[in-house]
Amino acid sequence: MSEAIDFFISKFRDNINREYEPGRYFRPRPYRNASVRFRNCSIEDFEKRRDILVNEAGLNAFMFRSDMIPGCDLLSDSGTTTMTMRQWAAMLLGDEAYGSNEGYFELKNQITETFGKDWVSGNENRSGENLFIFHQGRAVENALFTVLGRVAAKNETRQPKLANGLMPALKKRIESKLLSGKGNTPGSCDSQFIIPSNSHFDTTQGNIEDKGMIPINLPCPQHLADDRDYRFRGDMDVDEIENLLENEGSRVPLVYITITNNTGGGQPVSIANIKRIREITDRFNIPLFFDACRFAENAWFIKKYEKGYSDKSITEIVHEMFSYVDGFHISLKKDGLVNMGGALVLKEGGIFTEKYPDFKGGLTDYQIMAEGHPTYGGLAGRDLKSIVEGFRVVVRQDYLDARIGQIKRVADSLTGYGIPIIEPAGGHAVYIDMDKFFDGIKIDDFMGVSVTALLLIAGHRVCELGTYAFGRYMDGNEIPPDPRVNFVRAAVPRLAYEDMDLLSFVEAVKVLYDHRERIPGVNVEYGRDLPLRHFKSRFSFKK
Ligand code: F0G
Repeated sequence: MSEAIDFFISKFRDNINREYEPGRYFRPRPYRNASVRFRNCSIEDFEKRRDILVNEAGLNAFMFRSDMIPGCDLLSDSGTTTMTMRQWAAMLLGDEAYGSNEGYFELKNQITETFGKDWVSGNENRSGENLFIFHQGRAVENALFTVLGRVAAKNETRQPKLANGLMPALKKRIESKLLSGKGNTPGSCDSQFIIPSNSHFDTTQGNIEDKGMIPINLPCPQHLADDRDYRFRGDMDVDEIENLLENEGSRVPLVYITITNNTGGGQPVSIANIKRIREITDRFNIPLFFDACRFAENAWFIKKYEKGYSDKSITEIVHEMFSYVDGFHISLKKDGLVNMGGALVLKEGGIFTEKYPDFKGGLTDYQIMAEGHPTYGGLAGRDLKSIVEGFRVVVRQDYLDARIGQIKRVADSLTGYGIPIIEPAGGHAVYIDMDKFFDGIKIDDFMGVSVTALLLIAGHRVCELGTYAFGRYMDGNEIPPDPRVNFVRAAVPRLAYEDMDLLSFVEAVKVLYDHRERIPGVNVEYGRDLPLRHFKSRFSFKK
């Protein structure tokens, strides 16, 4: 009998370890729902949604009421997490003190658990704290670049012209930013700074430009190429960063790597690349930071696809990844598994704190004026407790397998119907390629806006991240994004949807794809020339 049971155990084990096949599931989710939210509307209410979309929202997905979305709301994976029971329970224990609340110290401890012992605050006096809380990611970016602009300006040596040794294409890209007026505040010493990244997120880019600095993206050559075998397409271009630092290192106060690379399709960055960039930044004594929003998802890809990491735990991989950087900022609305929150964490004794000894003091002053004491930074004490618990869950192997497996199932279902997406899919979203979707059928400027609007009528919400979001309108001309990106992004909230929801979204996309020649373009009724225009504009369908 025990032999028979052993037989079945081994069969059951083989069964759950089978590769996923369309329409078949071998593993249950590693959680069950403990609370549900019923919809206020039916999937059948197409006309109601059309009226709201046209009359209330001006075809803009950001302005469409979420209570009227009966399908999948894939506008963002940010702040849309379903929190666990333990997170809700932890919130009841929140310490609502005005400063230095209990959650802050628990979070400090958790940060060393999650990111490694390098991240312990090394100093018992308060100016030595290395954890700064903010209400969300962009608030950190704003503070970081404001204060960095001030303190780094003191070290700066002015050079009127860009160095001749810069690679011509790179030089041209930097010059185009200067010529466009962005990042160039004449007479300001800040105008000299360049902040390179594998790819900055749009708010990071906006915050850098707002402080008169020049954001520059240096994605690796495989980025967006049709090379499905290269799994780390979020990597930074090693030759370009080396060339930039060799020639213009004095203009670069900080180098960034965004993990995963959201702007570039949610693609992961390899440890090999992080290490290589670290060697280069070390050579020039320049600090290296992560924009760490999706650090756990990035670690999952390293474990799965990078040589030498399959036997390591996610936490071990995260520790190694973070051992190479001098600081990081994070929107906790992603891999913090919470609905609101952000943080900046500095490594004691890292290049950043050594090079900019006035930074922490400057940041603390800034925070007290703008966000509140760094120990709560715009959050309630209870929020900090839920972040601590979120960090414990997000590195679980079973959670990440389910999460990233789900993204893959959506991606495979789309490609199964021939719908073009960035492949292989990244960790948090599927990016549908509008140029390929309409290839040879129709050339109109903003088809991603049309597809987004029609999907809202179908009952699902996605986000246009293409020629409208990233293009600009200047002097009567539409300037497309450079390099060109033209996507509609379906970002999947964490722990929120089941496959049946997401696969019904795929079927709605298929309806549009099958009849794509019937999809009308849009007129921009308002806001074409505004900054960050996709949040604010209004459109109408062309007849
Ligand atoms: N960095 C990255 C890589 C991001 O993806 C985001 C936000 C931020 C910074 C800013 O954080 O929203 O807390 O202020 N991304 C969301 C998205 C909004 O939909 O991709 P935040």
